[in-house]
Amino acid sequence: MTQHTEGAITFETEGAFYNPKMMLNRDIGVTMSRALGLTEYLDAMSASGIRGLRVAREAGVENVALNDVSPQAYELLVKNVAENDLACTVSCRNANILLHEQHFQAVDLDPFGSPSPYLPAASRSALNYLFITATDTAPLCGAHLKSGIRKYMTMPLRTDYHREMGARVLLGLAARELARLDKSPVPMLTHVTDHYVRTYLRVIKGAKAADKCLKSLGYVEHCRSCGGFVLLSDPYPKGVCGHCRAATTLAGPLWLGRIQEPDIIHMALACQGLSPRAEKLLRTCASEVEAPMYYDHHSICERLNITPGKIDDIVERLRLNGRQASRTHFNGLGIKTDATLQEVEVALKPA
Ligand SMILES: C[S@@+](CC[C@H](N)C(=O)[O-])C[C@H]1O[C@@H](n2cnc3c(N)ncnc32)[C@H](O)[C@@H]1O
Ligand SMILES: [Zn+2]
Repeated sequence: MTQHTEGAITFETEGAFYNPKMMLNRDIGVTMSRALGLTEYLDAMSASGIRGLRVAREAGVENVALNDVSPQAYELLVKNVAENDLACTVSCRNANILLHEQHFQAVDLDPFGSPSPYLPAASRSALNYLFITATDTAPLCGAHLKSGIRKYMTMPLRTDYHREMGARVLLGLAARELARLDKSPVPMLTHVTDHYVRTYLRVIKGAKAADKCLKSLGYVEHCRSCGGFVLLSDPYPKGVCGHCRAATTLAGPLWLGRIQEPDIIHMALACQGLSPRAEKLLRTCASEVEAPMYYDHHSICERLNITPGKIDDIVERLRLNGRQASRTHFNGLGIKTDATLQEVEVALKPA
Protein backbone atom coordinates (compact mmCIF):
# COMPACT_ATOMS: atom_id res chain seq x y z
CA MET A 1 0.00 0.00 0.00
CA THR A 2 1.45 3.37 -1.06
CA GLN A 3 -0.21 6.15 0.86
CA HIS A 4 0.40 9.82 0.07
CA THR A 5 -0.88 13.16 1.25
CA GLU A 6 -1.25 16.14 -1.04
CA GLY A 7 -3.20 19.25 -0.06
CA ALA A 8 -6.18 18.13 2.03
CA ILE A 9 -6.29 14.61 0.58
CA THR A 10 -4.75 11.37 1.78
CA PHE A 11 -4.81 8.77 -0.97
CA GLU A 12 -3.31 5.61 -2.40
CA THR A 13 -1.52 5.35 -5.73
CA GLU A 14 -0.98 1.59 -6.15
CA GLY A 15 -1.94 0.67 -9.73
CA ALA A 16 -2.14 4.22 -11.10
CA PHE A 17 0.14 7.00 -12.20
CA TYR A 18 1.10 9.69 -9.69
CA ASN A 19 3.68 12.42 -10.24
CA PRO A 20 4.42 14.50 -7.12
CA LYS A 21 6.25 17.01 -9.36
CA MET A 22 2.87 18.00 -10.81
CA MET A 23 1.72 19.29 -7.42
CA LEU A 24 2.22 22.94 -8.41
CA ASN A 25 0.03 22.34 -11.48
CA ARG A 26 -2.69 20.82 -9.24
CA ASP A 27 -2.30 23.54 -6.55
CA ILE A 28 -3.04 26.19 -9.17
CA GLY A 29 -5.89 24.12 -10.63
CA VAL A 30 -7.55 23.95 -7.20
CA THR A 31 -7.11 27.70 -6.67
CA MET A 32 -8.50 28.56 -10.11
CA SER A 33 -11.49 26.25 -9.52
CA ARG A 34 -12.16 28.05 -6.22
CA ALA A 35 -11.66 31.53 -7.70
CA LEU A 36 -14.05 30.77 -10.58
CA GLY A 37 -16.70 29.33 -8.22
CA LEU A 38 -17.11 26.11 -10.19
CA THR A 39 -20.11 23.89 -9.45
CA GLU A 40 -19.29 21.01 -11.81
CA TYR A 41 -15.90 19.62 -12.83
CA LEU A 42 -14.73 16.59 -14.79
CA ASP A 43 -11.24 15.23 -14.17
CA ALA A 44 -11.27 13.33 -17.48
CA MET A 45 -8.03 11.38 -16.88
CA SER A 46 -7.95 10.94 -13.13
CA ALA A 47 -5.38 8.17 -12.45
CA SER A 48 -5.39 8.14 -8.60
CA GLY A 49 -7.97 10.95 -8.59
CA ILE A 50 -5.78 13.36 -6.65
CA ARG A 51 -6.61 16.31 -8.94
CA GLY A 52 -10.39 15.97 -8.80
CA LEU A 53 -10.41 14.94 -5.13
CA ARG A 54 -8.54 18.12 -4.24
CA VAL A 55 -10.92 20.20 -6.37
CA ALA A 56 -13.88 18.62 -4.50
CA ARG A 57 -12.45 19.12 -1.01
CA GLU A 58 -10.27 22.25 -1.27
CA ALA A 59 -12.24 24.24 -3.84
CA GLY A 60 -15.59 23.00 -2.48
CA VAL A 61 -16.89 22.07 -5.95
CA GLU A 62 -20.13 20.17 -5.43
CA ASN A 63 -20.27 17.93 -8.51
CA VAL A 64 -16.92 16.39 -9.29
CA ALA A 65 -16.65 13.52 -11.76
CA LEU A 66 -13.53 11.35 -11.85
CA ASN A 67 -12.81 9.19 -14.87
CA ASP A 68 -10.05 6.91 -16.11
CA VAL A 69 -9.98 4.31 -18.87
CA SER A 70 -7.83 1.95 -16.80
CA PRO A 71 -9.76 -0.61 -14.68
CA GLN A 72 -6.99 -0.55 -12.02
CA ALA A 73 -7.23 3.24 -11.82
CA TYR A 74 -11.02 2.97 -11.58
CA GLU A 75 -10.79 0.62 -8.57
CA LEU A 76 -8.33 2.96 -6.93
CA LEU A 77 -10.60 5.94 -7.62
CA VAL A 78 -13.54 4.22 -5.90
CA LYS A 79 -11.33 3.52 -2.89
CA ASN A 80 -9.83 7.02 -2.68
CA VAL A 81 -13.25 8.68 -2.95
CA ALA A 82 -14.62 6.49 -0.13
CA GLU A 83 -11.58 6.97 2.14
CA ASN A 84 -11.88 10.73 1.80
CA ASP A 85 -15.62 10.61 2.43
CA LEU A 86 -16.39 12.55 -0.75
CA ALA A 87 -19.40 12.20 -3.05
CA CYS A 88 -17.58 12.28 -6.42
CA THR A 89 -18.96 10.33 -9.38
CA VAL A 90 -16.51 7.71 -10.66
CA SER A 91 -16.39 6.16 -14.13
CA CYS A 92 -14.15 3.90 -16.21
CA ARG A 93 -14.61 5.23 -19.73
CA ASN A 94 -12.56 6.28 -22.69
CA ALA A 95 -12.52 10.06 -22.09
CA ASN A 96 -13.41 10.72 -25.74
CA ILE A 97 -16.64 8.74 -25.43
CA LEU A 98 -17.61 10.28 -22.10
CA LEU A 99 -16.89 13.79 -23.42
CA HIS A 100 -19.03 13.19 -26.52
CA GLU A 101 -21.91 11.92 -24.40
CA GLN A 102 -21.99 14.41 -21.57
CA HIS A 103 -21.57 18.13 -20.97
CA PHE A 104 -19.71 19.49 -17.97
CA GLN A 105 -19.35 23.05 -16.74
CA ALA A 106 -15.58 22.55 -16.54
CA VAL A 107 -13.47 19.89 -18.23
CA ASP A 108 -9.88 19.21 -17.22
CA LEU A 109 -7.57 17.28 -19.59
CA ASP A 110 -4.42 15.79 -18.10
CA PRO A 111 -3.27 13.04 -20.48
CA PHE A 112 0.08 11.37 -20.94
CA GLY A 113 1.70 13.63 -23.56
CA SER A 114 -0.45 15.46 -26.04
CA PRO A 115 -4.05 16.54 -25.34
CA SER A 116 -4.58 16.85 -29.10
CA PRO A 117 -6.58 13.56 -29.49
CA TYR A 118 -9.04 14.74 -26.82
CA LEU A 119 -9.56 18.35 -27.88
CA PRO A 120 -12.47 17.78 -30.30
CA ALA A 121 -14.55 15.91 -27.69
CA ALA A 122 -13.50 18.15 -24.79
CA SER A 123 -14.39 21.25 -26.81
CA ARG A 124 -17.87 19.82 -27.32
CA SER A 125 -18.33 18.82 -23.68
CA ALA A 126 -17.03 21.95 -21.95
CA LEU A 127 -19.86 24.40 -21.27
CA ASN A 128 -17.91 27.17 -19.55
CA TYR A 129 -14.34 26.14 -18.86
CA LEU A 130 -11.65 23.98 -20.39
CA PHE A 131 -8.39 23.37 -18.53
CA ILE A 132 -5.57 21.66 -20.44
CA THR A 133 -2.19 20.20 -19.52
CA ALA A 134 0.21 19.18 -22.30
CA THR A 135 3.47 17.42 -21.47
CA ASP A 136 4.64 16.93 -25.06
CA THR A 137 6.79 20.06 -25.05
CA ALA A 138 9.19 18.83 -27.76
CA PRO A 139 6.50 18.71 -30.48
CA LEU A 140 4.84 21.87 -29.15
CA CYS A 141 8.01 23.92 -29.04
CA GLY A 142 9.36 22.90 -32.43
CA ALA A 143 12.06 20.48 -31.22
CA HIS A 144 10.21 17.53 -32.83
CA LEU A 145 8.93 19.31 -35.89
CA LYS A 146 7.08 16.51 -37.69
CA SER A 147 5.27 15.39 -34.56
CA GLY A 148 4.33 19.04 -33.87
CA ILE A 149 2.86 19.38 -37.35
CA ARG A 150 0.88 16.15 -37.00
CA LYS A 151 -0.44 16.77 -33.49
CA TYR A 152 -1.15 20.48 -33.73
CA MET A 153 -1.76 21.08 -37.45
CA THR A 154 0.62 24.00 -37.47
CA MET A 155 4.26 24.79 -38.16
CA PRO A 156 6.07 25.26 -34.83
CA LEU A 157 9.56 26.73 -34.73
CA ARG A 158 12.38 26.24 -32.27
CA THR A 159 13.48 29.72 -31.20
CA ASP A 160 14.75 31.53 -28.08
CA TYR A 161 11.08 31.95 -27.13
CA HIS A 162 10.26 28.25 -27.62
CA ARG A 163 8.37 27.96 -24.32
CA GLU A 164 5.86 30.58 -25.38
CA MET A 165 5.81 29.08 -28.88
CA GLY A 166 4.58 25.85 -27.24
CA ALA A 167 1.82 27.61 -25.33
CA ARG A 168 0.63 29.47 -28.44
CA VAL A 169 0.72 26.32 -30.60
CA LEU A 170 -1.55 24.57 -28.09
CA LEU A 171 -3.87 27.60 -27.77
CA GLY A 172 -4.03 27.88 -31.56
CA LEU A 173 -5.31 24.32 -31.88
CA ALA A 174 -7.79 24.80 -29.00
CA ALA A 175 -9.16 27.94 -30.69
CA ARG A 176 -9.64 26.10 -34.00
CA GLU A 177 -11.26 23.05 -32.36
CA LEU A 178 -13.68 25.29 -30.43
CA ALA A 179 -14.39 27.40 -33.53
CA ARG A 180 -15.66 24.32 -35.40
CA LEU A 181 -18.38 24.14 -32.74
CA ASP A 182 -19.16 27.88 -32.82
CA LYS A 183 -17.28 28.34 -29.56
CA SER A 184 -14.21 30.34 -28.63
CA PRO A 185 -11.60 30.43 -25.86
CA VAL A 186 -10.67 33.28 -23.56
CA PRO A 187 -7.38 32.24 -21.96
CA MET A 188 -7.47 33.26 -18.29
CA LEU A 189 -4.11 31.87 -17.19
CA THR A 190 -1.38 30.18 -19.22
CA HIS A 191 1.93 28.95 -17.86
CA VAL A 192 4.81 26.80 -19.00
CA THR A 193 6.49 25.20 -16.00
CA ASP A 194 9.10 22.43 -15.90
CA HIS A 195 8.17 20.33 -18.94
CA TYR A 196 4.53 21.09 -19.46
CA VAL A 197 2.14 23.72 -20.78
CA ARG A 198 -0.96 24.46 -18.72
CA THR A 199 -3.84 26.71 -19.75
CA TYR A 200 -7.18 27.69 -18.26
CA LEU A 201 -9.75 28.71 -20.86
CA ARG A 202 -13.14 30.29 -20.44
CA VAL A 203 -15.36 28.94 -23.23
CA ILE A 204 -17.70 31.36 -24.99
CA LYS A 205 -20.62 30.10 -27.10
CA GLY A 206 -21.58 31.84 -30.35
CA ALA A 207 -20.53 31.96 -33.99
CA LYS A 208 -19.87 35.71 -33.95
CA ALA A 209 -17.50 35.47 -31.00
CA ALA A 210 -15.80 32.50 -32.71
CA ASP A 211 -15.31 34.51 -35.93
CA LYS A 212 -13.81 37.35 -33.91
CA CYS A 213 -11.61 34.97 -31.96
CA LEU A 214 -10.13 33.48 -35.14
CA LYS A 215 -8.66 36.92 -35.79
CA SER A 216 -6.39 36.19 -32.84
CA LEU A 217 -4.69 33.48 -34.91
CA GLY A 218 -1.63 34.52 -36.85
CA TYR A 219 1.96 33.78 -37.73
CA VAL A 220 5.45 34.69 -36.60
CA GLU A 221 8.10 35.55 -39.17
CA HIS A 222 11.34 34.71 -37.42
CA CYS A 223 14.97 35.45 -38.25
CA ARG A 224 17.37 32.76 -37.12
CA SER A 225 20.29 35.05 -37.78
CA CYS A 226 19.50 37.95 -35.42
CA GLY A 227 16.63 36.49 -33.34
CA GLY A 228 14.25 39.23 -34.48
CA PHE A 229 10.62 38.43 -35.23
CA VAL A 230 7.47 40.07 -36.52
CA LEU A 231 3.85 39.05 -36.02
CA LEU A 232 1.66 38.56 -39.08
CA SER A 233 -2.08 38.15 -39.43
CA ASP A 234 -1.72 36.22 -42.71
CA PRO A 235 0.76 33.57 -43.93
CA TYR A 236 2.56 35.90 -46.35
CA PRO A 237 6.00 36.68 -44.96
CA LYS A 238 8.38 39.21 -46.49
CA GLY A 239 11.01 36.46 -46.52
CA VAL A 240 13.76 38.85 -45.50
CA CYS A 241 14.54 40.13 -42.00
CA GLY A 242 13.86 43.86 -41.59
CA HIS A 243 16.64 44.02 -39.02
CA CYS A 244 19.58 42.12 -40.57
CA ARG A 245 18.36 41.22 -44.10
CA ALA A 246 18.85 37.46 -43.57
CA ALA A 247 16.22 34.98 -44.83
CA THR A 248 13.32 34.41 -42.43
CA THR A 249 11.24 31.37 -41.42
CA LEU A 250 7.48 31.28 -40.83
CA ALA A 251 5.75 29.67 -37.83
CA GLY A 252 2.02 29.18 -37.44
CA PRO A 253 -0.90 29.38 -37.31
CA LEU A 254 -0.52 30.30 -33.64
CA TRP A 255 -2.66 32.00 -31.03
CA LEU A 256 -1.48 35.61 -30.91
CA GLY A 257 -4.27 36.92 -28.65
CA ARG A 258 -4.11 37.47 -24.92
CA ILE A 259 -3.01 34.53 -22.80
CA GLN A 260 -3.51 35.95 -19.31
CA GLU A 261 -6.49 37.66 -17.71
CA PRO A 262 -4.93 39.61 -14.81
CA ASP A 263 -8.31 40.20 -13.06
CA ILE A 264 -8.94 36.46 -12.83
CA ILE A 265 -5.37 35.75 -11.77
CA HIS A 266 -5.75 38.33 -8.99
CA MET A 267 -8.93 36.56 -7.87
CA ALA A 268 -6.89 33.35 -7.64
CA LEU A 269 -4.14 35.19 -5.75
CA ALA A 270 -6.71 36.40 -3.23
CA CYS A 271 -7.49 32.77 -2.28
CA GLN A 272 -5.71 31.53 0.85
CA GLY A 273 -3.15 28.77 0.99
CA LEU A 274 -1.12 29.19 -2.20
CA SER A 275 2.46 27.96 -1.96
CA PRO A 276 5.14 30.68 -2.34
CA ARG A 277 6.15 29.17 -5.70
CA ALA A 278 2.58 29.21 -7.02
CA GLU A 279 2.07 32.75 -5.78
CA LYS A 280 5.25 33.99 -7.46
CA LEU A 281 4.27 32.30 -10.72
CA LEU A 282 0.77 33.81 -10.70
CA ARG A 283 2.09 37.29 -9.88
CA THR A 284 4.54 37.14 -12.78
CA CYS A 285 1.85 35.88 -15.18
CA ALA A 286 -0.52 38.69 -14.12
CA SER A 287 2.12 41.36 -14.70
CA GLU A 288 3.39 40.17 -18.09
CA VAL A 289 2.73 42.60 -20.92
CA GLU A 290 0.56 41.09 -23.63
CA ALA A 291 3.18 41.26 -26.37
CA PRO A 292 3.51 37.79 -27.92
CA MET A 293 6.94 36.11 -27.58
CA TYR A 294 10.04 37.54 -25.94
CA TYR A 295 13.70 38.31 -26.48
CA ASP A 296 16.38 36.38 -24.61
CA HIS A 297 18.57 38.94 -22.87
CA HIS A 298 21.74 36.83 -22.95
CA SER A 299 21.28 35.66 -26.55
CA ILE A 300 21.10 39.23 -27.80
CA CYS A 301 24.09 40.31 -25.70
CA GLU A 302 26.11 37.36 -26.96
CA ARG A 303 25.33 38.25 -30.56
CA LEU A 304 26.25 41.89 -29.95
CA ASN A 305 29.30 40.78 -28.00
CA ILE A 306 28.43 42.87 -24.94
CA THR A 307 28.30 41.96 -21.26
CA PRO A 308 24.71 41.62 -20.07
CA GLY A 309 23.58 44.28 -17.62
CA LYS A 310 20.71 43.88 -15.18
CA ILE A 311 17.59 42.66 -16.97
CA ASP A 312 15.32 44.84 -14.80
CA ASP A 313 17.27 47.92 -15.94
CA ILE A 314 16.67 47.04 -19.60
CA VAL A 315 12.95 46.56 -18.95
CA GLU A 316 12.86 49.93 -17.15
CA ARG A 317 14.72 51.66 -20.00
CA LEU A 318 12.25 50.30 -22.57
CA ARG A 319 9.39 51.62 -20.43
CA LEU A 320 11.02 55.03 -20.12
CA ASN A 321 11.24 55.03 -23.92
CA GLY A 322 7.45 54.68 -24.02
CA ARG A 323 7.38 50.96 -24.76
CA GLN A 324 5.51 48.22 -22.94
CA ALA A 325 7.99 45.87 -21.32
CA SER A 326 8.10 43.24 -18.58
CA ARG A 327 9.87 40.12 -17.38
CA THR A 328 8.17 36.81 -18.16
CA HIS A 329 7.56 33.55 -16.28
CA PHE A 330 8.43 31.68 -19.51
CA ASN A 331 12.12 32.40 -19.06
CA GLY A 332 14.13 34.21 -16.39
CA LEU A 333 16.18 35.85 -19.14
CA GLY A 334 13.15 36.79 -21.27
CA ILE A 335 12.10 40.35 -22.05
CA LYS A 336 8.54 40.82 -23.26
CA THR A 337 8.02 44.04 -25.13
CA ASP A 338 6.26 45.68 -28.04
CA ALA A 339 9.59 47.32 -28.95
CA THR A 340 11.49 46.27 -32.10
CA LEU A 341 14.75 44.34 -31.80
CA GLN A 342 16.54 47.53 -32.81
CA GLU A 343 15.00 49.37 -29.84
CA VAL A 344 15.85 46.50 -27.49
CA GLU A 345 19.46 46.59 -28.69
CA VAL A 346 19.64 50.32 -28.00
CA ALA A 347 18.26 49.74 -24.50
CA LEU A 348 20.85 46.97 -23.93
CA LYS A 349 23.86 49.06 -24.79
CA PRO A 350 25.29 51.09 -21.93
CA ALA A 351 24.83 54.86 -22.49
C1 LIG B 1 -1.05 11.80 -16.61
S1 LIG B 1 -2.17 10.62 -15.97
C2 LIG B 1 -3.32 11.59 -15.08
C3 LIG B 1 -2.77 12.17 -13.82
C4 LIG B 1 -3.76 12.77 -12.86
N1 LIG B 1 -4.70 13.68 -13.51
C5 LIG B 1 -3.02 13.47 -11.73
O1 LIG B 1 -3.06 14.73 -11.61
O2 LIG B 1 -2.36 12.76 -10.95
C6 LIG B 1 -3.06 10.13 -17.39
C7 LIG B 1 -4.17 9.10 -17.14
O3 LIG B 1 -4.96 9.02 -18.31
C8 LIG B 1 -5.47 7.72 -18.42
N2 LIG B 1 -5.91 7.55 -19.82
C9 LIG B 1 -5.17 7.25 -20.92
N3 LIG B 1 -5.95 7.23 -22.02
C10 LIG B 1 -7.20 7.54 -21.60
C11 LIG B 1 -8.45 7.70 -22.26
N4 LIG B 1 -8.55 7.53 -23.59
N5 LIG B 1 -9.54 8.01 -21.52
C12 LIG B 1 -9.45 8.19 -20.18
N6 LIG B 1 -8.28 8.05 -19.51
C13 LIG B 1 -7.18 7.75 -20.20
C14 LIG B 1 -4.33 6.83 -17.97
O4 LIG B 1 -4.83 5.58 -17.53
C15 LIG B 1 -3.71 7.69 -16.85
O5 LIG B 1 -4.19 7.27 -15.60
ZN1 LIG C 1 17.56 39.21 -38.70
